[in-house]
Amino acid sequence: MRILIILLITLLFSSSYAEDKKKSKSETGATVTSNLSVALQNGKKKAQTICSACHGMDGVAASGGNSVIVPNLTAQHKDYLKVKLLEYKSGKIQHAQMSVIAGMLSEEDIDNVSEWYSRIKIKVFDPNLVLAKPSQ
Ligand code: HEC
Repeated sequence: MRILIILLITLLFSSSYAEDKKKSKSETGATVTSNLSVALQNGKKKAQTICSACHGMDGVAASGGNSVIVPNLTAQHKDYLKVKLLEYKSGKIQHAQMSVIAGMLSEEDIDNVSEWYSRIKIKVFDPNLVLAKPSQ
């Protein structure tokens, strides 16, 4: 009986260990600098110093004084973010805030910050089953 219990506990531990290992292979803790490429480190810095006031560090414009008309950037395609930022920078799209902000960024900054926001991992719930509260 005792052996059986020990076997069971060992099995439980080893399966949760395997689960952890699987997780760490596909996910990277963004708070640990050594986990980040140089582009991601630079992108994170730009996000911290410029973008996060409106878009949040995680690209969800929902906290503090953020307005609900600031778009979420989280997990958006990198190329989409780059195109939009370059369009604000070139003047193709005009916006009181974003045109000024994009004008301050180099093309490398744009690439790096787009890398940051496109890499934030999200979980999507089936909209037929789970509804969030209306945004405020
Ligand atoms: C002062 C607030 C503010 C700051 C700071 C700010 N943004 Fe924005 N951003 C906005 C608003 C508002 C819009 C919507 C503009 C529009 O309607 O054209 C926007 C739009 C965007 C879009 C276009 C999204 C889309 O789907 O069309 C991108 C990409 C973006 N911002 C990236 C950034 C990045 C990267 C930074 C930092 C370098 C940044 N923003 C800093 C307010 C801000």
